[in-house]
This record gives sequence, structure tokens and C-alpha cells, in this order.
Amino acid sequence: MGYDYQTDEELNRSTNRVMVVGLVLMLLMALVFPFYRWFEPSARAESRELQLESLQEQGSSIWEFNCASCHGLNGEGGLAPALNSMQFLQLATDDQIQGLIAVGVPGSQMNAYSLDFGGPLTSEQIKAVTTFIRAWEPDAPDRPDWRESS
Ligand code: HEC
Repeated sequence: MGYDYQTDEELNRSTNRVMVVGLVLMLLMALVFPFYRWFEPSARAESRELQLESLQEQGSSIWEFNCASCHGLNGEGGLAPALNSMQFLQLATDDQIQGLIAVGVPGSQMNAYSLDFGGPLTSEQIKAVTTFIRAWEPDAPDRPDWRESS
């Protein structure tokens, strides 16, 4: 091997080989790309799903340690409103829930949980516990009286 071609013809043949290989590679990429486009969205959906699951898991332990004593282990209420209520979950957006957890309800037992307001939770943890609360929605019981707690 090497580049010391004896004749123009040999150089030609070698150049042609390189061009053919290049063409084949280009064709392969053109063929593979649609497959990639086809699978990529489902890969992203899957990773989003995993991300949500991990937030929910994190949220679950945050809930147990910080919220369950008043709102019940499964959000069924007790000393505080039932947050697993279908009516509550349909009414409140994630942003509203995060806001409520962050600043609390002044004049009530509901404290501010955000670090910014003297609470113990980062905004990521507040997001996690909100994801956990949101996950009750598909099987949320019909409870129009959710504010009356227990
Ligand atoms: C010491 C008891 C107590 C704890 C602990 C507590 N809460 Fe509350 N929470 C309350 C009470 C009482 C209310 C109702 C406040 C009101 O509107 O008068 C409330 C209201 C709320 C609401 C608003 C419901 C509405 O009125 O729209 C949300 C959301 C909420 N709590 C989430 C949480 C989360 C999440 C945690 C844990 C990080 C938590 N709470 C911990 C007592 C508690």
C-alpha cells in the first residue's frame, strides 16, 4: 500500500474506489436517517416518562415527611384539605399548586415551604411534590367538599 502509484491508471482506480465508498456511505446515511427520525420521538417520550417517574418518587418521600401529617398519606385530608380530590386537581394548575406550596396560605396552618420564604424545600423539590400530587388525578375520588378536610 501507500501513495506511490506507478501509473495514472492506478491512481484513477484508487480515486474511484474512494468515491464509491463515499457514495455508499452517503446512501447508507440517507437510508438510516428516516429510521432515526422515526424512533427519536419515542425515545424522547420514554425519557420524559422516566423523568416524571423519578420526580414522582422524589415527591413521594417529600410528601411523607412534610405534608402527610396534615393532608393525609394519600392526600385524603385530615387536619388540612383533601388534595386528592378530583375537584381540586381539575381546578388547580401545576403552577398554582407550586405557588401555594412555595408561599403557603398566610393566616393558616399551611406554611411557606420554599427556601425563599424560610421553608425547607428547593424549587426542584416543590416541583417533585407537585408531580406526585398530580399523579393522583387519574383515580381521584369525587370530593366537592375537599376544602372541609376530613
Ligand atoms: C401543619 C399542617 C399542614 C402541613 C404540614 C401542610 N399543609 Fe398544606 N394546607 C394546610 C391547611 C390548613 C391548608 C388550608 C389553608 C386554607 O386555605 O385555609 C393547606 C392548603 C394547602 C394547599 C392549597 C389547597 C387550596 O386551598 O387550594 C396545598 C396545595 C397544600 N396545602 C399543599 C401542601 C404540601 C405539598 C405540603 C407539604 C410540602 C403541605 N401542604 C403541608 C395544612 C398543612
